[in-house]
Amino acid sequence: MKTSSLWGTPQSRYYRLLQRIEENTPAGQPPTMAVIGCADGKYVLPAARRGFKVWAIDIDEVALFGGYKKDLTGEVLMPGLASRVKAEGLEDLVEVVHGDFMAAPPQQKFDAVFTSGALQYSNNLEHSLEQMVTEVGACVKPGGLLYIDYMLPYEEKYQGRAICPEAPWWKEYFTSRPVWEVKHNRVMPPTLDKAHVEYPVDHYHQWGHLLARRTAA
Ligand SMILES: C[S@@+](CC[C@H](N)C(=O)[O-])C[C@H]1O[C@@H](n2cnc3c(N)ncnc32)[C@H](O)[C@@H]1O
Repeated sequence: MKTSSLWGTPQSRYYRLLQRIEENTPAGQPPTMAVIGCADGKYVLPAARRGFKVWAIDIDEVALFGGYKKDLTGEVLMPGLASRVKAEGLEDLVEVVHGDFMAAPPQQKFDAVFTSGALQYSNNLEHSLEQMVTEVGACVKPGGLLYIDYMLPYEEKYQGRAICPEAPWWKEYFTSRPVWEVKHNRVMPPTLDKAHVEYPVDHYHQWGHLLARRTAA
């Protein structure tokens, strides 16, 4: 049975990324991937369905184990990542972790690490962005890939937030560290995102998409 995320479906570029990770992983073994801030599995299930071994962490208990959230229609039941994984028979491929990635980073390294919009959450204000990106990047194996969807300070609530800098910060972080080879770093124009759970009105965001390869340990 195919289940769906209340956050919607991944963009086509995510499927291109999965293909790239497969091509970048030594033959004969399933790719391993960490999803940091996985919510109810918008990005987890599509990878596990292709045979990836996924380590998925979020601080939000409802997103992981089910409960009620708000969307356009009011209260809505979110089945949660764990029940989606079970319904699709993917328990052997997905490890669901409830926790803060800064307090409980994984004890292993992955062929790929993916995170979308999580670093800029207000619960991370006690950290610097540099600390967080370094922690997330440390989970990537030498030769592995790091993909970050980063939020830019377009909306008023993100302006002046130290963990939500302008685009040059990202370029400077990755180009000043020889351990990273930047494959692409695209700054998108502000786009209208449709209402989704936790943000139940259509809204504008500005995103950057960064893919980098770790060249060394
Ligand atoms: C923008 S949401 C995106 C969710 C998911 N990427 C998606 O699109 O379906 C970011 C997620 O990151 C989680 N998050 C934020 N800070 C976190 C932290 N320090 N540790 C673990 N999860 C975190 C939030 O709870 C939220 O579920």
